[in-house]
Amino acid sequence: MERILLVDFGGQFTQLIARRIREAGVFCEIYPFTTVSVSFVKKMSPKGIILSGGPKSVYQKDSPRLPKEIFLLDIPILGICYGQQFLCHALGGKVASNPSGQGEFGRAQLNIVDRCALFKGIWQVGDVTPVWMSHRDKIVRIPNFFSVFATSTGAPYACIANEQKNIYGLQFHPEVVHTKFGEKILQNFVATVCRCDRKWTMKAFKEQTIKDLQNTVKDKKVVCAVSGGVDSTVVAVLLHLAIGDNLTCIFVDNGLLRRGEAQWVLEIFNKHYNIRLRHCNAQDMFFRALSRARDPEKKRKIIGETFIRLFEREASKIGSVAFLAQGTLYPDVIESVTFARDHCVAIKSHHNVGGLPEKMHLALIEPLKKLFKDEVRHLARALNLPREFVYRHPFPGPGLAVRIPGIVTRKKCDILRRIDDIFIDQIRSKAMYDKIWQAFAVLLPIKSVGVMGDARTYHYACSLRAVTSSDGMTADVYPFDNAFLTETATRIINEVSAVGRVLFDCTSKPPGTIEWE
Ligand code: XMP
Repeated sequence: MERILLVDFGGQFTQLIARRIREAGVFCEIYPFTTVSVSFVKKMSPKGIILSGGPKSVYQKDSPRLPKEIFLLDIPILGICYGQQFLCHALGGKVASNPSGQGEFGRAQLNIVDRCALFKGIWQVGDVTPVWMSHRDKIVRIPNFFSVFATSTGAPYACIANEQKNIYGLQFHPEVVHTKFGEKILQNFVATVCRCDRKWTMKAFKEQTIKDLQNTVKDKKVVCAVSGGVDSTVVAVLLHLAIGDNLTCIFVDNGLLRRGEAQWVLEIFNKHYNIRLRHCNAQDMFFRALSRARDPEKKRKIIGETFIRLFEREASKIGSVAFLAQGTLYPDVIESVTFARDHCVAIKSHHNVGGLPEKMHLALIEPLKKLFKDEVRHLARALNLPREFVYRHPFPGPGLAVRIPGIVTRKKCDILRRIDDIFIDQIRSKAMYDKIWQAFAVLLPIKSVGVMGDARTYHYACSLRAVTSSDGMTADVYPFDNAFLTETATRIINEVSAVGRVLFDCTSKPPGTIEWE
């Protein structure tokens, strides 16, 4: 099978690159730079190598590196951001920190100054086009035999290459959706430069995953955490196809769910599937465990731990269960750790159910942990999942707890459930639900003064958030019009007496994350 080797230098977007390559129909595998030696590459024999971004500076002593002989193997190479700076540094160029100490972050204009194989069918010389940058250092001298193909204000060497040797470097990120035609650049790399025939598909992934699950589980028993969302449902269906009745699904009502959710999940699951499902009401357990937690990371860890102890308890009732399966996705994993653990920064400890405890009695199975949400939706369609599962907005494992900054109480959850329900109802009534990646409300830990019916009020403030995204890695704010926002705010204040002020969150990701905590 044709493969692209993606070397992870600890970049936040490494998995996104992998996914774009898979979208281009080529299987892509990620390895931390620490494991990539010349003999490793020769054995793997990839059609091309991509070097990821990363948070370090190449001129630092402990910066991530690869042996220089990698460049002599006659395999096409593409370095992105730090990857470009690394290849430049390794081949005799020079990288320096920006004298002003400032970098180039977010949107930038790229000027195309020469024809390049990566630009085939996209850009002509003289074009100016938006790209996404995220760098503090910059290249100040390129290696011998390299030429410049594109520039930007903050990066005079925004695209460089030695086309004879098939070595390319980009300072901008082609993998994020904000770089227009970025996916085409990566397609050009795999198709034109690496000459891959691009035949890898999601159907192949499904079949391979079922086989892998059978090999891992053998005749042991598995409990699968289901939430009614597309991810955990896909895991349950894959497992059911793989191991049949050795699977038991567990739905936990932790008190942190949306309005009517528990009932919805049980009804819809039983209607569509003949999979064994246990319903576990654990509201008291979660609220007790969370009663004093304010810190977002602490809350996530408590929730993760409580979930796991609960699954262990349920598993012991079933008897001889060896595995716990859950629908953890790539963004959950990426933002907790990356493959090059010591060389990246953890954003938050997510996992499907929150931060996981160190000691667990059940081994974890996470068949989707290398997929992004839209890839999971493709897989869901390949598995014929009903529409109501496939297009539900994502809902995080730690639930409303990460939407209530500060102490989480049952009462606050009740208030937030009502606000959320009105907001989603408004969105559905205007046929906007399917255009939005995720919409939800956040109950703020502040109260504010108002006036209702000539009397003073002092009630909670809440914030509404709705974003568009294709993968949860980056997100834009959904552009509601004023009339919609004011109508929704009025409904919330009139219908939820504990709320006196409604705000709208207009932060994209980055710099914000989608959830508040
Ligand atoms: P953030 O907030 O990191 O979220 O921008 C990206 C996407 O992931 C969801 N999310 C989670 N999903 N467990 C999950 O299953 C979690 O702990 C978790 N935290 C965030 C979030 O809702 C968004 O869709």
